[in-house]
Amino acid sequence: MINDIQNSLIKKESIFGPDNYKPLPVVLSKAKGVWAWDVNEKKYLDMMSGYSAVSHGHAHPELLRVFHEQSSKLSLTSRAFYTDTLGPYLETITKMSGFEMCLPMNSGAEAVETAIKSSRRWAYRTKKVEPGKAEIIVADGNFHGRTTTIISFSTDENSRDDFGPHTPGFLAVKYGCSESIEAAINENTAAVLIEPIQGEAGIVVPPAEYLPEVREICTKHNVLMILDEIQSGLGRTGKLFAYQHSNIQPDGLILGKALGGGFMPVSCFLSSEEVLHWMNPGSHGSTFGGNPLAAAIAKRSLELLEEDGLIENSKLMGDYFKESLLNMNSKIIKEIRGKGLWLGVEIDPDLISGKDLSKMCLDHGILCKETHETTIRFAPPLVITKEELDWGLDKIKEVFTKITG
Ligand SMILES: Cc1ncc(COP(=O)(O)O)c(C=O)c1O
Repeated sequence: MINDIQNSLIKKESIFGPDNYKPLPVVLSKAKGVWAWDVNEKKYLDMMSGYSAVSHGHAHPELLRVFHEQSSKLSLTSRAFYTDTLGPYLETITKMSGFEMCLPMNSGAEAVETAIKSSRRWAYRTKKVEPGKAEIIVADGNFHGRTTTIISFSTDENSRDDFGPHTPGFLAVKYGCSESIEAAINENTAAVLIEPIQGEAGIVVPPAEYLPEVREICTKHNVLMILDEIQSGLGRTGKLFAYQHSNIQPDGLILGKALGGGFMPVSCFLSSEEVLHWMNPGSHGSTFGGNPLAAAIAKRSLELLEEDGLIENSKLMGDYFKESLLNMNSKIIKEIRGKGLWLGVEIDPDLISGKDLSKMCLDHGILCKETHETTIRFAPPLVITKEELDWGLDKIKEVFTKITG
């Protein structure tokens, strides 16, 4: 229940800031591992993980150690100078991912912008597209962030409306349909930019043949295949990258969220030397991108995915989570989509709305949120144990039983 302290803190956010988010009525003040506590010390199981940014769990002890150590040594320099952390981080991320080069940024949207700019440069300078004509093909239902250019190719009205004039050069086609991509390609096409699984659209998993077909089409037409794995990447789906479920290799990869280990915004665009060498001095950058603290945290976050077995745990616990939800045989569940610890539960809106279900989960100690009206997203930290997950499953069952009787 919301009390006076929570109420006054909630009001402050609303009075002194615009309501561009609609948070659930809980005021959190601390978190550790998979657990979070509100200002009244009520404990919750975090099944949101900061939209997949807290894959390592809150305040991972090793990341906390790195954070303290690096911030007391050197945290910010700008890219006007070399540092002893950036090179080792770039080496780690390129070796782990198999890409030749990495351009570091901060937020996810910045990394998407970086991918767009890099693709356009490659198109003009390598592919020799006529000046000013480069096009990028995207998918309906996409979510790639909130900058003016990125929302220009969103198909969600509220993300776009009255933020124009919009940036030209993008074409949205049907998600999951490779034919629509091939039909849209012309001599000016620089890249295809898609999510291997659409997160914000409601954990939409495309047909198994989609990514391999898109790969083939992009190769055939000399078009870059760029995947946005800001949400799906870094173990979230039970593989290091979601595209590895399809045994393909994209030409460019965008990462963010969990790269910052739950501590800070860290993102990047990975690609080949052929694409990234065009990003010469003065063409692109960011004061904070690749800063020593971010580089140290990101390097260790990547290493811990393997050292702590987070990718395997995501697969193991994800399968168990999905199976346990299905075994509840609840009339509320219409469908469960997703891979690893990234589930979208499609609920029957005649029984309860997504918003009300999220609120009931909250009352029962589960942090989760609907995406669109009828999908509840469950994405706990990848460090979750079976015991912790069972705790959550019991609570979810309690909620479902309360609704259906
Ligand atoms: C697939 C995808 N791309 C881009 C973004 C934008 O990232 P950020 O909010 O860090 O700008 C998100 C955020 O949810 C995302 O899920």
